[in-house]
Amino acid sequence: MNGSALLLLCFLARISVIYSTDPSCSGKVNTNPIVREDPRLVSTVPNGKRFVVGSDYDQINIVHVYGGTPYDMGFALGKLMSKEITELVPAYFEYLYEQVEEILKIVPAFIAKWIADLGLAGALDLTYEITHPYTPPWFDDEIRGVADGSGVDMVKIRQVNMLPEMIKAACTVLGAWGDSVIGSTLLHVRALDWDDKAPIAKYATITVYHPNASYQGYTDHFHDYYKQHNPQSHAFANFGYPGLIGSLGAYSEASIALGEKVWITKESDITSRFGNPWTYVLRDVVQFANSVDTALTMMANAQRTCSIHLGLGSYERNSSLTADTNFGFRGIEYSARELNVYNWEDMFNTKAHPILRDVVYWDKHVQPSNNPCLGSLLVEHYGHLNAESIIYNITSLSETGDAMNFVLDYAENAVYIAYSAPDDPKGPLEAFNRAHTRIDMGKLFAEPAPH
Ligand SMILES: *[C@@H]1O[C@H](CO)[C@@H](O)[C@H](O)[C@H]1NC(C)=O
Ligand SMILES: *[C@@H]1O[C@H](CO)[C@@H](O)[C@H](O)[C@H]1NC(C)=O
Ligand SMILES: *[C@@H]1O[C@H](CO)[C@@H](O)[C@H](O)[C@H]1NC(C)=O
Repeated sequence: MNGSALLLLCFLARISVIYSTDPSCSGKVNTNPIVREDPRLVSTVPNGKRFVVGSDYDQINIVHVYGGTPYDMGFALGKLMSKEITELVPAYFEYLYEQVEEILKIVPAFIAKWIADLGLAGALDLTYEITHPYTPPWFDDEIRGVADGSGVDMVKIRQVNMLPEMIKAACTVLGAWGDSVIGSTLLHVRALDWDDKAPIAKYATITVYHPNASYQGYTDHFHDYYKQHNPQSHAFANFGYPGLIGSLGAYSEASIALGEKVWITKESDITSRFGNPWTYVLRDVVQFANSVDTALTMMANAQRTCSIHLGLGSYERNSSLTADTNFGFRGIEYSARELNVYNWEDMFNTKAHPILRDVVYWDKHVQPSNNPCLGSLLVEHYGHLNAESIIYNITSLSETGDAMNFVLDYAENAVYIAYSAPDDPKGPLEAFNRAHTRIDMGKLFAEPAPH
């Protein structure tokens, strides 16, 4: 099985481009200047504010939701994005039905059978039913809110949220700090290689959740799940698409972030379909953890399902620790039965994947990777990494992050992000080849609630 999601369509390189000197990399550098502008307010509803940043095919929605309950936050999200969610859900399903032959080739055999027997929607409903007993109630509450706010059928929104559980993405995980970077920071790349042609790309959305002081009362109601973590709910942002309430990549006010990549392993019996969907576990960790340790404890205690790789970053913004010790990054192999945690010293050391001090990385290929491209680029640019050099010289040349590509700079407290643009007649299609927008995350988390 080739676990990369859907089919990755080739992009015809245009003339007069700079290719890598490394023959193992087939991409070209991304010379687009970083877009640096303030988000513009578009609309306000009770408990919500919508902004946009960028223009044309690079426009990104920034949707802030506030409140004391997941339902209220979901409702605000549904209201603010009603038109988009109403368009996106049927368009996405229509697209998926057109791709169903391809989907059947890349999913595990038993999922292919579910789809063959039940149809795609039926297979997603089955996924919902078997994961539901392990899913904290706030996900259903928020989905109910999104449905009521947008007017879109709740069952459809639920189905969209089950897709990542069935079809996982290839992607790259990279954390870099210390000697590898310029200055003193932690850089974290989440490159989503999913399906850059999917119509969801034009609904690029960062959803910023601002649970208010009453929210603690809501979660206290669910003692059992929570008491073990002594959780504190933080504001956090999901980098993704409207109505997809789990996390593909997320970052919190406490400077905790997670990004994912599929983990294809020959070991059998380490995955399960019965558990809390991985996008939901990631979101809970980002919302409630305040350190690498609490994040790992939450993941250890979660009822996990699929096998995925994760990059977990944390940064103590106001710590008395020195600049070299106030952050952490771990690579994680995550599955129902295993949770293996890697620092840079624990990474494989092969010709294609040299160990690099202060760098944790997995490229978009099956691990351990035999493709030397990413490793050689990291060697070449070691010591000179920052968000710009990664976008200019690394994700572009290694052609990773076709659907969505982002680099978090923890010290700057900013994200540099791009989405694919299937409708842009001039191209390029892939996120890693497009202009990235810098967004000040500290400002987003400080955005006040509407009156
Ligand atoms: C939190 O938001 C809810 C709306 O969901 C509102 O009724 C409540 O007053 C807010 N609580 C605080 C402490 O702001
Ligand atoms: C961190 O420090 C900044 C100013 O240096 C302050 O505005 C912010 O409230 C502090 N955050 C926390 C979580 O203490
Ligand atoms: C990209 O790599 C080239 C060649 O090593 C280097 O000259 C250039 O400064 C790099 N660009 C950025 C933005 O770091």
